[in-house]
Amino acid sequence: MSSMLSVRDLHFGVKDLSILNGISFEVEPGETVGIIGPNGSGKTTLFNCLSGFNVPSSGSVHFKGNEITDMPPHGRSLQGLGRVFQNFGIFREMSVLENVIMAIESRQSIWSTFFPWSRQNAINREEAMHFLKEVRLENSAKQRAASLSGGQMRLLEIVRTLAFGADLFLLDEPTAGVSPKMKEDVAHLIQKLRAMKKTVLVIEHDINFIQKFCGRIIVLDVGKLVLDDSPERVRSSSMLKEIYFGSEAA
Ligand SMILES: Nc1ncnc2c1ncn2[C@@H]1O[C@H](COP(=O)(O)OP(=O)(O)O)[C@@H](O)[C@H]1O
Ligand SMILES: [Mg+2]
Repeated sequence: MSSMLSVRDLHFGVKDLSILNGISFEVEPGETVGIIGPNGSGKTTLFNCLSGFNVPSSGSVHFKGNEITDMPPHGRSLQGLGRVFQNFGIFREMSVLENVIMAIESRQSIWSTFFPWSRQNAINREEAMHFLKEVRLENSAKQRAASLSGGQMRLLEIVRTLAFGADLFLLDEPTAGVSPKMKEDVAHLIQKLRAMKKTVLVIEHDINFIQKFCGRIIVLDVGKLVLDDSPERVRSSSMLKEIYFGSEAA
């Protein structure tokens, strides 16, 4: 019972529309798992159920061995479950550095940084700069967060989640709409999370892109898990062709 995440027979529906139809899988600590599937197949809804923004109609979610099926989002993030939202949660008027420092402070007692001269402030600042160096944002540390490019903002979101102390990262299309260069930076950051033994679930469209850093790929189709295998086997599966191109192409 050492799995990081355990999803059992998860169902979710809105009125009489069923969106997730019995999804089960396990994720071990340190795994990087890609999630793919056609538009509307339920990928974001699955993340909402894992992070507490949707309450499943049946089934269960366990995180680090504890059941969290009905726990509100905030409780989950305190336990180390990090849902990364796009353009959400960043304080645009604060500096890039302050944004990271705030995430670090959020897991400390307010007294540790209450006085400006507290030693903890210097330690936090150093840690925040370390995180920013990891994503080559150290030269932007003093800029307002609002001045970052879309791709840099995305890196900052992931770094804030890291600074907040997350062990499990849920990334929903982190490279959507970013430049090819920034796409490489996002890939690099995911590889870094992996090297830090963090667990990562990443929703992406481009299987060629995610297979660079995912050891395993889960495929959803109409709210069901239809494949859960190595990138090589998923790529060569006739099921994948059927889902994306219809049965004639298989
Ligand atoms: N709150 C909701 N109310 C009604 N329909 C929803 C709701 N959330 C998701 N859906 C529907 O569920 C399906 C799956 O959506 P989503 O999880 O966003 O898919 P994906 O992320 O794979 O593109 C879509 O058909 C979407 O319109
Ligand atoms: Mg989605």
